[in-house]
Amino acid sequence: MARTTIKEAITIASLVGENITIKGWVRTFRSNRFVAINDGSTINNIQAVIEFENMEEDVLKQINTGAAIAVKGKLVESQGSGQSVEIQVSSLEILGESNPEEYPLQPKKHSMEFLREKAHLRMRTNTFGAVFRLRHAMSYAIHQYFNDRGFYQMHTPIITGSDAEGAGEMFRVTTMDLKDVDKDDKGEIDTTKDFFGKETNLTVSGQLEAELGALALGKVYTFGPTFRAENSNTTRHLAEFWMIEPEVAFNDIIDNMNLAEDFLKHLAQYALDNCADDVKFLTEREVKEEKTKPQAERNELNLQERLEFITKNNFERITYTEAIRILENSKPYKKKKFKYMPEWGSDLQTEHERFLVEKHFKKPVIISDYPASFKAFYMRQNEDGKTVAAMDILFPGIGEIIGGSQREERLDVLKAKCKDFNIPEEHVWWYLETRKFGTCTHSGFGLGFERLVMFVTGMTNIRDVIPFPRTPKSAEF
Ligand code: 4AD
Ligand code: MG
Repeated sequence: MARTTIKEAITIASLVGENITIKGWVRTFRSNRFVAINDGSTINNIQAVIEFENMEEDVLKQINTGAAIAVKGKLVESQGSGQSVEIQVSSLEILGESNPEEYPLQPKKHSMEFLREKAHLRMRTNTFGAVFRLRHAMSYAIHQYFNDRGFYQMHTPIITGSDAEGAGEMFRVTTMDLKDVDKDDKGEIDTTKDFFGKETNLTVSGQLEAELGALALGKVYTFGPTFRAENSNTTRHLAEFWMIEPEVAFNDIIDNMNLAEDFLKHLAQYALDNCADDVKFLTEREVKEEKTKPQAERNELNLQERLEFITKNNFERITYTEAIRILENSKPYKKKKFKYMPEWGSDLQTEHERFLVEKHFKKPVIISDYPASFKAFYMRQNEDGKTVAAMDILFPGIGEIIGGSQREERLDVLKAKCKDFNIPEEHVWWYLETRKFGTCTHSGFGLGFERLVMFVTGMTNIRDVIPFPRTPKSAEF
């Protein structure tokens, strides 16, 4: 008999009274009668009721937490509370045993740190099941959002010769023998001998190539892995993460903000509409977790409320200069509580962003028009000559979720920027040519996919929203 998923069994009303087969993993077995099975299709377990007397003893002994089993039987309205249907088992087969003494996931609460070391199994827990179903749902919703609005997905290269963000935090790609590297006359590594005949790295962003696409197809987006060798061991940084980068011809910075805000609202609404069970589970999990924290550190809104809040309230929009003014008039500034004093011309620190988003506005904030000095070379120079048409979106509890800008479309200004940033023109000749042939206003942004998943799941460490995180000194699995 074909397998019925647990999700189907509990949602398709016509299955009640039918004989079905369920396959999954044992979560608990109690009173020699009730087996809770989960197959990953939903957060919900199904209860399989067995007649203990009819079971062979060695089968009974193998119904352990973590074992893979198949049960056949009639799906009936549940007698007990807590579930709508259950299965009256006529036959039970052990597909894969699990030694209860060794299985690390006992039916009790485990710490996130412990589960990170068991990343090969942690997806079998309720929390990680919910997180990774939501991660999938967000990925699907992103493609749907853009497809419905006439965007084309573009696959940009993962191996690249350019440093789009100019931050110099790239992983080298080479086939050279590191023990015996070819050197040129000056003693420098002779990259002409390398696989691609030049220095190559893993990409930090698909943006530069996406711009080429937008200047032909109008509206494009990328959704791919990006790599950054920044040695920051924080709860918000990964060395390998996924980024979504829409790029739109003829959009200016305001159109860009509107698109980004609508996009994030849509994704929060999608999670509420399509992932209700998982959102409810994660909300309840968070509420329990919060009770163990001091009052001051607790969220004012729970996960469900935060998602609803995003969909219903406009984001605050301020310029960098206004942000600095607010910070300079703030209590923590006057009481010298900031570790770094905010000052026009230096980048906003996490503590400044948190103050603006979590204390001052208590909502998402779009900060625009940053000083050119600490933003990337491709951002459009504003009339004041000091700032660029950049925009960052900051979310409560997450910090920067989106970074984007209007792009510099004027060839002469862009060439001057390359010079300022020490980017040799021959490295980006193809990028510059689009400013020579049919250049136009265009804009785009990058959404950090894991930061989005943190937001919709309420998880507080980015390592817990990607199946196998890559961070400094850690690449297991
Ligand atoms: O602000 P970033 O560096 O912008 C870009 O890469 C542009 N090329 C985007 C564009 O305009 N097309 O990165 C974009 C987003 C950040 O806002 C953040 O959400 C995420 O990517 N991000 C990271 N996420 C996880 N780990 C890291 N190390 C990240 N660095 C950036
Ligand atoms: Mg950024």
